[in-house]
Amino acid sequence: MLIKNAIAYVDGKFAQNDILIENGKITGVGRALDARGEIVDARGLIALPGLIDMHVHLREPGETWKEDFKSGGDAAVAGGYALVYDMPNNIPKPTITREALDEKRKLALKSRCEVRFHFGATENNFEEVRDAKPESLKMYLGMTTGNMLMKDEKSVERHMKEFPKAKQIFVHAEGDEAGKAIGLAKKAGRKVHLTHVPNESVLDAVKGWKLATADVAPHHLFLCKSDFDEGDCRALVKPGLETIKSVSDLWKRLDGIDAIATDHAPHILEDKKKGAFGFPGLETALPLFLDAYSRGLMDLEWIAKRFSENPARIMGLRDYGRIEKGCVGSITLVDLKREWTVHGNELCTKAKWSPFEGKQLRGRAVKTIVKGEVAFSLD
Ligand code: DOR
Ligand code: ZN
Repeated sequence: MLIKNAIAYVDGKFAQNDILIENGKITGVGRALDARGEIVDARGLIALPGLIDMHVHLREPGETWKEDFKSGGDAAVAGGYALVYDMPNNIPKPTITREALDEKRKLALKSRCEVRFHFGATENNFEEVRDAKPESLKMYLGMTTGNMLMKDEKSVERHMKEFPKAKQIFVHAEGDEAGKAIGLAKKAGRKVHLTHVPNESVLDAVKGWKLATADVAPHHLFLCKSDFDEGDCRALVKPGLETIKSVSDLWKRLDGIDAIATDHAPHILEDKKKGAFGFPGLETALPLFLDAYSRGLMDLEWIAKRFSENPARIMGLRDYGRIEKGCVGSITLVDLKREWTVHGNELCTKAKWSPFEGKQLRGRAVKTIVKGEVAFSLD
């Protein structure tokens, strides 16, 4: 496949380039490339390295009325994502054994998006972790959907010590637990990643250790408590929405945010009414930030780094996150002028609602190429 005349993010800058992809890998980047085969005319479009979402809940197996690898994969590529990392808090069967991980790998083959997996840590599954050799480990130090909370600090410490140092440990921690997690990672001398950081103080905790990184979810930057009426079940999410003051303080710290991850946590409204926590987010994340760019709130380099380059680095994927010879042939083509209005019932996610309902956004992904194949194309 030859992508012609895109304004591509190459080497940290945007410049007009053609991108050649053969056998799922980028084999050429430059001006006026020539090739036989499929030509994608990208004149007027931005090319980003395929977006990577390090934090999604695709709900399969177990709760496939909320999402499955097919619908979740469709939502991902429609949002511009070429790779997502699925979380282990499945109900009733969390991904805490090799068998559960193998089952997910098979089920995920039907996704249009590339899917990788976080493995769940429990207070005593050390042997299972060694046996499954997952690419990353997720620890829940804060209460949320699924019953995976780790209360015993000793076992958190032991996982930090035993899990291979080259691999990433993802931590769900709010408030004081964040500082604790950072302290334990520091003691173990290992990297650690704090996901869905909701406010400035957790971001500060991350600054306390050089091998710690942090992502923020779009809803913690684009929504606050007062956007919903008191008691509106749609506002339920963990970590919870913050005050308008706290959100504006977080906006002042954009540079300290390493990545954006959606925490795509789909629940149908009926489940929300019963108290389920979580928002669908795959289809609105990039458009929210592109819209913010169009209003002058950040530059495109900031977006490329947080949606692609940094997630690849955080997950230790050496040939992802860049448009460069030898890297994976996953590319997200963006139209900065494309305007659309968010309607939950038009989204691919089975949740069929959005906390951003009715929002008018400028900019979105129009084509998502996953390993040399067009996985999504608008029109
Ligand atoms: O709101 C949330 N929903 N936060 C989480 O951490 C989990 C997620 C879910 O699985 O529903
Ligand atoms: Zn989550």
